[in-house]
Amino acid sequence: MNVPEKGEPYTIAWEGETGSIIYIDQTLLPGRCEVMRCTTVDDLARAIRRLEIRGAPALGIAGAMGVALAATRSREQGLDRFREEIRRAADLLKGTRPTAVNLSWGIDRVTRKVMMASSIEEAKVLAVAEADAVAREDELTCRKLGAFGEDLFPADCTALTHCNAGALACRCWGTALGVIRSAVEAGKHVRVVACETRPLNQGSRLTCWELARDGIDVTLIPDSSAAYLMRRGEIDLVIVGADRITRDAVFNKIGTYMHAISAHYHEIPFYVAAPVSTFDLARVEKEIAVEERGRDELAWCGDQMLTPDGVAVHNYAFDATPLDIVDAIITEIGVLRPPYSRSFRLVRG
Ligand code: MRU
Repeated sequence: MNVPEKGEPYTIAWEGETGSIIYIDQTLLPGRCEVMRCTTVDDLARAIRRLEIRGAPALGIAGAMGVALAATRSREQGLDRFREEIRRAADLLKGTRPTAVNLSWGIDRVTRKVMMASSIEEAKVLAVAEADAVAREDELTCRKLGAFGEDLFPADCTALTHCNAGALACRCWGTALGVIRSAVEAGKHVRVVACETRPLNQGSRLTCWELARDGIDVTLIPDSSAAYLMRRGEIDLVIVGADRITRDAVFNKIGTYMHAISAHYHEIPFYVAAPVSTFDLARVEKEIAVEERGRDELAWCGDQMLTPDGVAVHNYAFDATPLDIVDAIITEIGVLRPPYSRSFRLVRG
């Protein structure tokens, strides 16, 4: 398949002619940028588990398109059995990555449409239309969020980011990196410091790839040097994405919490950029299951053994940052500031 052109490669898209999902396989970057195709829900579940598709908003789109895939590929003739098949597909997809709430949000949005339909044919049409709406809205959301967020950036600044909350984590543009793109577009001079984001290196592989490709000034650092750079006065602000925002905490890639603590200590603003679909205000931190990933991600680097056999490994994919050290949450409906118990009312609607 074709390699996307520089500029507007969509991370994930519905291919109408073949009724399948096409996406950039993020495990191959930065060495290769290849577009893959999913034609079954099992393929999609595997791609999500392997992080070929990753990042909260992109998972929301993948979940929505996954339900559309299940609906359009179904051979069931009876409406009840068809609905049962969709529920099974939805459950399978939801189980692939439990922490990023956008995944179940996207799945539920399309499943609701399917369940409302009075015929299988109608359900198929509605599912594709809703999945397409989820994808298109994501682009608009990132642009709005970027416009609100860039106001927080000084005209000349260095921003530290962790993981990848960019075009690759969404349909395009990005959340945290979307704010950076909007600031650059507004003529600001922004230098980005990208943390490598061990163990899967979303920072060095993905953030550096997409920013360098767009000509945005980016420098890679090991995760462990972030606090020292802050101490030296080399960081003006921190901006990250989110996988889930509960009433009391922001869940994001493991390592985010330590950056938030360091930023707080050094009196550097710590910003989170996330769409409203990432909020889960019915829950608090301790109710959320944090995904734990396999030992090999830490114990091996390709063929190279990094720790002896038998040594135990903790590999949490995400951590939680308490809201009292978050200076602002940038959303598509505006910038939310503390006290969050009040500003979250805007999200609840
Ligand atoms: O494990 P990943 O790569 O899916 O984790 C992604 C992150 O933690 C991102 O920061 C988050 O999803 C926000 S993406 C806009």
